Amino acid sequence: MGSHREPVPTPLTVAESQKRTAAEAAARLVSDRTRVGLGTGTTVAYLLPALAARGLSLRCFATSPATELAARELGLAVEEPNALGELDIAIDGADQIDPRGWLVKGGGGAHTREKIVAAASERFVVIASAEKAVPSLHPPVPLEILRFGADATLASLGKAALRDAPPSPDGNLIADYLGAVDDPRGLAAWLSGTPGVVEHGLFAPELVNDILIAGTNGVEHRTLKKGDVP
Ligand code: 5RP
Repeated sequence: MGSHREPVPTPLTVAESQKRTAAEAAARLVSDRTRVGLGTGTTVAYLLPALAARGLSLRCFATSPATELAARELGLAVEEPNALGELDIAIDGADQIDPRGWLVKGGGGAHTREKIVAAASERFVVIASAEKAVPSLHPPVPLEILRFGADATLASLGKAALRDAPPSPDGNLIADYLGAVDDPRGLAAWLSGTPGVVEHGLFAPELVNDILIAGTNGVEHRTLKKGDVP
């Protein structure tokens, strides 16, 4: 007679466990009857069950089809993106976070929608494991670029390459800017002004309200004043 054994859950790595800790802390910041923006990525994947477990009445907006599907499966009410008005709170991960609160996002190619959602939210909360905190930003900086004239766009950017990745949720190409990121504000302005670049993954500190970074000593909660330009 064959014996049936329950699969033994694999213990989370340190980084995964930190992502979950930060995500659970962020879920506790959400109030009942609010409009919530949901980011994209592996850190947000821990946020969704933590949020669903709170049993609040929420109107959610997702930044990617993957987040939308996962949220719906957990019973969260996800609304049509065109109904996106002002949000009370949005919560999302990041690839890099510098000491001033500058972010690099777009590891999952969803940074255009993520920036729209962050900008539409009264409170934008960033969640991350300790490894995402960096002394200064470095390449790559993700880009979403239009298919039309993509070669010309890449040529005008110089140090940039198409990423071997699926298109963005809106059908555009995902690329990476590979030059230095010494002056994030100057680089952000230049990338925004380059024809063919739909959006770049540099998020300025004035978009951000809270940064929750989970490390070995628990969650470090940094608050920034939205609108303040450092
Ligand atoms: C997706 C993003 C993600 O928030 C970022 O890449 C972090 O991802 P993860 O939580 O998986 O480390 O910007 O476009």
